[in-house]
Amino acid sequence: MSSSNNSNLVVILGTGGTIAGRAAQASDNVGYKAAELGVQQLLDAIPALAGRPLEAEQLAQLDSKDMDFATWQKLARRVAEHLARPEVAGLVITHGTDTLEETAFFLQRVLAPAKPVVLTAAMRPATALQTDGPQNLLDAVAVAVHPGARGVLTVFAGAIHSAEQVRKVHSYKVEAFASSDGALLGLVEEGVLRLLGAWPAAGDGLGLARIEARAATAWPRVQILLNHVGADGALVRALLAQGVDGLVVAGTGNGTLSHALEAALREARSAGVKVLRSTRCDAGPVMESAGALPSAGALSPVKARVQLLLDLLA
Ligand code: SIN
Repeated sequence: MSSSNNSNLVVILGTGGTIAGRAAQASDNVGYKAAELGVQQLLDAIPALAGRPLEAEQLAQLDSKDMDFATWQKLARRVAEHLARPEVAGLVITHGTDTLEETAFFLQRVLAPAKPVVLTAAMRPATALQTDGPQNLLDAVAVAVHPGARGVLTVFAGAIHSAEQVRKVHSYKVEAFASSDGALLGLVEEGVLRLLGAWPAAGDGLGLARIEARAATAWPRVQILLNHVGADGALVRALLAQGVDGLVVAGTGNGTLSHALEAALREARSAGVKVLRSTRCDAGPVMESAGALPSAGALSPVKARVQLLLDLLA
């Protein structure tokens, strides 16, 4: 299943996840171990991909709850190297669903590629009676070779999401991802794309130098906090005592914070810690307002953390 001299070549990078998961029983959808099967095994299980110009590479093999900065560095570099090959039309990355949106947003901010980089995953292990991985992988390849497709995308359950908008919104259902504020990019139906939005902008990525200047072990420490009933400043002060470079706070509603939490965050800022205010709501922006702590715009807390991390790496 490989070819090197075809402008329709798709490189599939495997990183693990449920899509590569295995359970002892086919009826077991949750008691499985993620990241067990190799990416080539996933491809071999899809007859419709036989004979297509594909190249498989196992970049990592992990449950995405354990995704780390070193793997992100390695992934971004390999993605950039493959994209630079003229024969490569696009890339597919198999990933766990749990932190897929963070990896997608990270790659988009760093690379903003002019070719498609499609992340896909599964909610059911490869051994399940109704596994969703093979169809998602097949659809991802269809998007990766689509003329004009570009940017870091997620293809899942027949939908195409941009890295900016995609969020995991369900812990169990097979339709686990949504684009916030209805900003779905498109659909894949029997391998045919129906575009509903515009492909992401290309060419404004921060570049590999931003993320490679420091070893992954020396990346800034950015933590996420939540406003809630009775929220106080204890966690902020504990983090300050330990040492922290950035704080993202998931505020209530329009990024609002209890007096006590806000006071502690202002102390952190005075001590040189960068603070970004997002919302714990499922969608929607935090409006900038005079005198308020800086807003993360419409970024979810986890994506605001990626943004702050990249800002601090500058
Ligand atoms: C993971 O994120 O690696 C495990 C869960 C999943 O892929 O659905």
